[in-house]
Amino acid sequence: MALVYVTREIIGDAMGRLRAAHDVVVWVKPEPPRPEELRAVVADAEGLLCMLTDRVDQDLLAAAPRLRAVANYAVGHDNIDLQASAARGIAVGVTPDVLTDATADLAFALLLAAARHLPEAAAAVAAGQWSTWEPTRWLGSDVHGATLGIVGFGRIGRAVARRAEGFEMTVLATPETPLEELLARSDFVTLHCPLTPATRHLIDARALSLMKPTAVLVNTARGAIVDQLALAAALRAAAIGGAALDVTDPEPMPPVDPLHGAPNLIVVPHIGSATYNARARMTELAVDNLLAALDGRPMPNPVG
Ligand code: DGY
Repeated sequence: MALVYVTREIIGDAMGRLRAAHDVVVWVKPEPPRPEELRAVVADAEGLLCMLTDRVDQDLLAAAPRLRAVANYAVGHDNIDLQASAARGIAVGVTPDVLTDATADLAFALLLAAARHLPEAAAAVAAGQWSTWEPTRWLGSDVHGATLGIVGFGRIGRAVARRAEGFEMTVLATPETPLEELLARSDFVTLHCPLTPATRHLIDARALSLMKPTAVLVNTARGAIVDQLALAAALRAAAIGGAALDVTDPEPMPPVDPLHGAPNLIVVPHIGSATYNARARMTELAVDNLLAALDGRPMPNPVG
């Protein structure tokens, strides 16, 4: 039996399989452990089931000399120093596929909500401001038949494209359509690429300036793909039509973030994979990854 540290409480029966095979300790506080707290609790751990809020960096690895397996509770892995893990021979696994549809659904929900001003309209009703049917208020833009630009045509990007078919949208996707052309032609731009050095601030001031003044930017990937200062400026200047974000940089958005108060902006708190089914299946995959690696077998879903 190995000691496995789990950095948050998670749902799903698969945790029973992990507990049956290993000594499992769970961080039970609602807030994630701070880096120094995480370093302290992993001292004897051989397995780590961690969240995207945990940085698995050189310092963490140095504090966990017995660590052999890291199962990230996410498909993204920009929170993990893969080079340092590989240098230590630590297996790293992720949770692909099982959250694809949940994340694609959320991207589409954000797109629709932004196009039809749903948060503002619902807030007006909640505030008692529905006095009559208004012929010229709450006018949004058509989603049906519009052009959707998908940046990153992997599993989630393709799942978004399938949803767009039902709306008879024209779909453009990178890399087949070059980014600049995609930005200039799209009514909605949705981001589905991983965060890497090459995609950090991919959507910067110049990229935003190429978008139509009516276009909406949707991001359910990683916050740092967008230059948030540039986005705040573009929204305030009405250089684009709006933005709907599930992810920001940093997370959570600090109270002083320039995005606060920007017009035509929706922000939700990184809930792309937040369905019962997706999260329970993420638990299964993370547990499978840990059980395999701690047993000396290859992880079924290794990173990369
Ligand atoms: C992921 O898996 O990378 C998602 O962002 C989690 O919701």
